[in-house]
Amino acid sequence: MVDVVLGLQWGDEGKGKIADFLTPRYDVVARFQGGPNAGHSLEMNGKKHVLNTIPSGIFHENCMNVIGNGVVIDPVRFMEEIRRTEEAGADVKGRLFIGRKASLIMPTHKVLDAAFEHAKGDEKIGSTLRGIGPTYRDKYGRAGMRIGDIFDPDFEDRYRDAIKLHLNTIEQLKFGDFKLGDLEWEFFEAIEALKEYNFVDSEYFVNDLIASGKKVLAEGAQGSMLDIDFGSYPFVTSSNTISGGVTVGLGVAPKHINTVRGIFKAYCTRVGGGPFPSELDNEEGQLLRDRGHEYGATTGRPRRCGWLDLVALKYAVMLSGVDELIMMKSDVLSGIEKVGALVAYEIDGKRSETLPYDMCKADLKPIFEYKEGWSEDLTQMRSEDELPESFKNYVSWIEKETGVPVKILSVGPDRSQTIIR
Ligand code: IMP
Repeated sequence: MVDVVLGLQWGDEGKGKIADFLTPRYDVVARFQGGPNAGHSLEMNGKKHVLNTIPSGIFHENCMNVIGNGVVIDPVRFMEEIRRTEEAGADVKGRLFIGRKASLIMPTHKVLDAAFEHAKGDEKIGSTLRGIGPTYRDKYGRAGMRIGDIFDPDFEDRYRDAIKLHLNTIEQLKFGDFKLGDLEWEFFEAIEALKEYNFVDSEYFVNDLIASGKKVLAEGAQGSMLDIDFGSYPFVTSSNTISGGVTVGLGVAPKHINTVRGIFKAYCTRVGGGPFPSELDNEEGQLLRDRGHEYGATTGRPRRCGWLDLVALKYAVMLSGVDELIMMKSDVLSGIEKVGALVAYEIDGKRSETLPYDMCKADLKPIFEYKEGWSEDLTQMRSEDELPESFKNYVSWIEKETGVPVKILSVGPDRSQTIIR
């Protein structure tokens, strides 16, 4: 049996905390897409730990952590992350299982990411520059390498062949701002260190675990609105972030997928470029940014902030067949007199409750509705009875609009600041 937990907005919904919170119910946590563009923050006993490629179950004893074939791995960042995680007390050698078919991020993929962005100028995606897009591009162009290839005696020759085309492209784009020698030195060093860890054929590994009755949690990265097919294209990431991505990113059949949990923030944020219809490019947005500490876990960039977008949320719920909602950062909205949410778009003068074909081109204006806010501090509350009435009304509004129950409310970063309904 596989349950899924994924983000319903533009990423940064707080998936790390929730996956970590849910982990005790599972035997396995598996990542199925994305790579070091993700930054999943866990907070334990007041200490913050950021995971990028390692699944969020790594700190739980008896939990196996699998990196599926749909993930892209940068050996350099991955080894740094492994060392940090080991120092924080996790048994990475004993509990992490790396799928051999996961794609390999090469140093030139990272350079290409920067070169493509540079060439786009004002139209840049706002990529994390971790080499994600160029690596998936090679995967689908059948020119990539996989992490299991590091054990091939011809690995270095194959690597040299693979990067020829990258170097040509980089030259054409007149992007000279890198030292390949230095990048390769750390790349090969990390690869040697990585060989000490567990590599598996993750599709067999996961299916055998399912067959033996184990419970698997598939942990999404980024968010539904960044999905390569259904997000605000081209301002998206390069993988399928919706629940459909689980089947191809882990090699499990759709019939094994059970509950899909969708995570959203009580408001909305986005990093990087691209359309963001409910954005508040004003004092209210700045208030959300300050109170919600909305700065990227991976890149430190300030996040754009706005009200909850109910049209986009309903779309994401539909795409992934979400069964249960989890609302994060509820505490951030305390003290705001009128809490807003986007209920429709005005597109070319007409009201619409669906997303347009091209969010970037459409002349799209937000239609907001407002509800009474609440002044109480929610961070110390631990049960539903303690919650203020107007906050409960806000939650009911979301449930009514989406048709899906909100089962978990997060009222702060710590594991303990979580209310189950
Ligand atoms: P890339 O995945 O690094 O190529 O970035 C593509 C777009 O997705 C950019 O707008 C990034 O800011 C955004 N993005 C990628 N990963 C994350 C994430 O984990 N959280 C939020 N935004 C992300």
